[in-house]
Amino acid sequence: MFDPERFVKEETEKLRQKLDGKALIACSGGVDSGVAAVIAKNAIGKDLIAVHVDTGFMRKGESGNVRKSLEKAGLGLKFINAKDDFFRVLKGATEPEKKRKIIGEMFIRIFERIAKEEGIRYLIQGTIAPDWIESGGGERDTIKSHHNVGGLPEDIGLEIVEPLRDIYKDEVRKVARFLGVDAMEKQPFPGPGLAVRVVGEVDEEKVDIVREANAIMEEEIEKASLDEKITKPWQYFATLLPAKTVGVHGDVRNYGYVIALRSVESIDGMSAAYSKIPHEILDRISIRITNTLGKKVNRVVYDITNKPPGTIEFE
Ligand code: XMP
Repeated sequence: MFDPERFVKEETEKLRQKLDGKALIACSGGVDSGVAAVIAKNAIGKDLIAVHVDTGFMRKGESGNVRKSLEKAGLGLKFINAKDDFFRVLKGATEPEKKRKIIGEMFIRIFERIAKEEGIRYLIQGTIAPDWIESGGGERDTIKSHHNVGGLPEDIGLEIVEPLRDIYKDEVRKVARFLGVDAMEKQPFPGPGLAVRVVGEVDEEKVDIVREANAIMEEEIEKASLDEKITKPWQYFATLLPAKTVGVHGDVRNYGYVIALRSVESIDGMSAAYSKIPHEILDRISIRITNTLGKKVNRVVYDITNKPPGTIEFE
């Protein structure tokens, strides 16, 4: 049986032994980096420098929420606005693995810059077991390069430390509960953010569209679960597909994007079953998305694929 208290005690001690100098951690707002940050803070105190990088691929209101929740957990955060950098380096990239690698590399370049300014030696990452299992290496096939694993460039000027690398999401949640980390009940959100929820090339318009559609999906699913119409799914989100289709807006033909809704049940993200969301709820989400996004989105579809053969995210 996994014992969160013992895990925290052991990992805090290991970090205390291992880290001989300042360490950097990037907090995305997710449970993994939040838990890793609190363990590291307990181990090395003010030698931990916690940063939040706004990539431009965060969800609606997310960066502000991250700041609040980590301040509550006693972590002061340095904020870095790197939107322009991320959009610039992703220009023209369409292939998912390429996008993940570019994003991973940009993160590292930003971390290296801060490390140089502050004399930091270590980079602490909230990598969990499925991240590196699916990122391949050795005998394993690369399913997708999670940005904090397979997406890392080879010439990193920082030593990587991963206190959560042997545990799974359900276990991280137990540790979060034990540590009182706020992000505990949040659904997973991929490190490369909305950039992998725009299939194909990203641009600001597409990211803004998917951000709004995603916010509507989250709001409606959370409302339906509060109203006890459904049990809250393990993960639920919207993705923008790289296709425009014909629709009609008022009496006028229009040509807009397709939003795919996805909601899944899972334990650890390694396999998943699509959620049987009642049509009445899907209906509301579809209408709200097409009303809000007017001429930009004229079609909403619901993904009924399990993992395998699909993955949870589209990229
Ligand atoms: P897939 O799409 O591989 O997703 O079935 C499994 C779970 O992992 C999340 N995911 C990521 N998490 N960095 C992360 O920290 C990543 O690069 C990444 N890519 C996918 C995904 O949202 C799902 O919960």
